Amino acid sequence: MPSNGKQQLTTGSSVTRRGFLAVGSAALGAVSLTRNLEGQMSQTRTEAWGRILNGKVAIVTGAARGIGRSTAVALAHSGANVIGIDICAVVDPRSGVEPATRAELDQTGEMVKSEGVQWRSFVLDQRDLPSLRRAAENINTEFGRIDILFANAGIQAFRPLLEMEDPDWHIQIDVNLTGTANALRAFAPYMVKQEHGRIIMTTSTQGRHGTLNGSAYSASKWGIIGLMKSAAIELGRHGITVNCLVPGLIDTALTRHEERYEQALQVAGRTPSGDKAVDEEAARKALQSKSILGVPWIDPAEMAPVVVFLASDAARMVSGATYDVTGGDSANNV
Ligand SMILES: NC(=O)c1ccc[n+]([C@@H]2O[C@H](COP(=O)([O-])OP(=O)(O)OC[C@H]3O[C@@H](n4cnc5c(N)ncnc54)[C@H](O)[C@@H]3O)[C@@H](O)[C@H]2O)c1
Repeated sequence: MPSNGKQQLTTGSSVTRRGFLAVGSAALGAVSLTRNLEGQMSQTRTEAWGRILNGKVAIVTGAARGIGRSTAVALAHSGANVIGIDICAVVDPRSGVEPATRAELDQTGEMVKSEGVQWRSFVLDQRDLPSLRRAAENINTEFGRIDILFANAGIQAFRPLLEMEDPDWHIQIDVNLTGTANALRAFAPYMVKQEHGRIIMTTSTQGRHGTLNGSAYSASKWGIIGLMKSAAIELGRHGITVNCLVPGLIDTALTRHEERYEQALQVAGRTPSGDKAVDEEAARKALQSKSILGVPWIDPAEMAPVVVFLASDAARMVSGATYDVTGGDSANNV
């Protein structure tokens, strides 16, 4: 088992704490959290997790970067072979988010392979169900099984409801909600045949409450929770569990751009300056003061322990549930 520390994502110093996620009586893993000089939490994995997913076949959508990449690497570290799916192209030209690239997807692949497991990748748009179905068939033919689906790909943009144009609404619903349902519809049939499977979908804390100028995103992510609970009911008799990861505000390309800083400032009742650096710093302060654990942007690697747990046999009695990793923001939601 590789334990070469290749996934150590961030160095840090100062205060060190440990978070242990227990799986039954066994410890799934240990994560060392460090608080760097800017006060932001980041993660350095310090101990081996054990190969609790040894030989499993895991699909990760949105694998080129961010939460998808971190989780793909963690699944690999736990012994799963990983198939990464990503569009690697502009999705919403109206959003301020930089598109992911093929080079980033390949880089995820290198990180996965360095864990001693197999990697395959597919560049496709999850709005395209036939493409997803072709990928599923290819994967099943090659690996003979599909155990885990982390349906994670998504986009975000902000528009006030009354200024919204049709594409602003449709693209977020189509990519986030329909695309996630497409991934389930493409891969779950193989899990049904196996009478076993684990499906984890990425929703959002903005799918647990309303979002200023973010109605399409909130609606899409709220919809994913309804999708997850319905799928849990329909697929449970086939030994398939379906759950949601609920991230808070995570440090990825999705949240690190001017449009997102402006939205954070508007929520705080402030007027954005239009200068990216100034607004970023102001957003950092606004987000940090609002965060229960004092973290403006959470490291994406903090999402992975929940996904690995939900993908493991230890979680066989967990289905229809939401697991929040929000730095405390969950305390504000019912
Ligand atoms: N970053 C956050 O604060 C945050 C918070 C809550 C939920 N989320 C959710 O987490 C998931 C991952 O987001 P992230 O923060 O890692 O962002 P990200 O932009 O870094 O990663 C998202 C990935 O999904 C891919 N993707 C987008 N549309 C696609 C499509 N139609 N088909 C295939 N791939 C597509 C992108 O190319 C990108 O690589 C998203 O569903 C997002 O809504 C993020």
